[in-house]
Amino acid sequence: MHRKILELLKERSPSYLSGEEMAHLFSVSRTSIWKNIQALQSDGYLIDRSPRLGYRLVEVPDLLLPAEIGRELHTKIIASSEELIHHFRQIDSTNNALKNLAEKGVPEGTVVVAEEQTGGRGRLGRSWSSPFGKGIWMSVLLKPPLAPQDTPLFTLLAAAAVVKGILVNLPDLPVGIKWPNDLLIKNRKVCGILTELKAEADLLHYLVIGIGININLREEDFPAEIKNTATSLYLENNRQLVSRQKLASTLLQEMDHFYREYIDNGPEMVISEWKKYNITLSNYVTIKTAQGSFSGRAIALDGDGALLVEDAEGHQKRFQAGEVTLGKSSEEIRPPDLN
Ligand code: BTN
Repeated sequence: MHRKILELLKERSPSYLSGEEMAHLFSVSRTSIWKNIQALQSDGYLIDRSPRLGYRLVEVPDLLLPAEIGRELHTKIIASSEELIHHFRQIDSTNNALKNLAEKGVPEGTVVVAEEQTGGRGRLGRSWSSPFGKGIWMSVLLKPPLAPQDTPLFTLLAAAAVVKGILVNLPDLPVGIKWPNDLLIKNRKVCGILTELKAEADLLHYLVIGIGININLREEDFPAEIKNTATSLYLENNRQLVSRQKLASTLLQEMDHFYREYIDNGPEMVISEWKKYNITLSNYVTIKTAQGSFSGRAIALDGDGALLVEDAEGHQKRFQAGEVTLGKSSEEIRPPDLN
């Protein structure tokens, strides 16, 4: 009902629509129409009410509401129906919320999205700043019929899908992927991905892919410690606001497409899309892991998503995880005997 009323108000906007006409069209009482209008207003829709003329939709908020994100979507698995999109104005972390839902057995393709996270989490135990209405803070539930060892490829998949989604909306932005899954613009981070999983030895129960994109943040919205290393699409787009709804919708569309392609035909297309947008391969990198750090040229991406790095002496080392810094470093190049 909620949804039908909204569509009708959009169709008639900027004209008014009487409560009586809507009640008649949907065969419900005028009180029920009024209750639904109030629910829409509390979602953030600006609806004007005139005692004589009825209701008029004045403004759709740029909030990540299921009705708005879902409207343009033609996905088959991820957010394939509006009911699969769970929207929160504020939550600790969308990854936490989705893991709780996954434990309750919600279907694959369920998405949790929030306007604000109070305990947003990044990789390596870091926090992820997630101010209200400024970014996309979103998690996607996947249950691929694959082994836990394939997980890194899904993080690459998400990174490639986000780049594609950004480029559909902002084709001129020089956005690239730093292995494995940071999105950078001019060497500043604009998006991070945190993939968490539940698995047994060779059985993957589910993956929660958490995506954080800095969209309309201004300089003052960033915490001091990341001011010089982070950026937003707004700042890189000549300070023009970017529609979060459109971007959320395109990135879910791309992710669904990549995911189905992976499940049906294997990871080749995902890997080649990732390579297309990557800014790591053939560059000089320093990679930090729990075992130490290693510098050299990133020479290849393995079929399972691991990065192959070769140092000045020709020693090669394979990394499945780690924190990459791009470009020359003053650090000494260490031989690959760190673990
Ligand atoms: C990184 O450290 O680069 C990963 C950042 C991931 C942030 C996103 S925002 C949505 C989801 N919920 C979280 O708590 N974290 C991820």
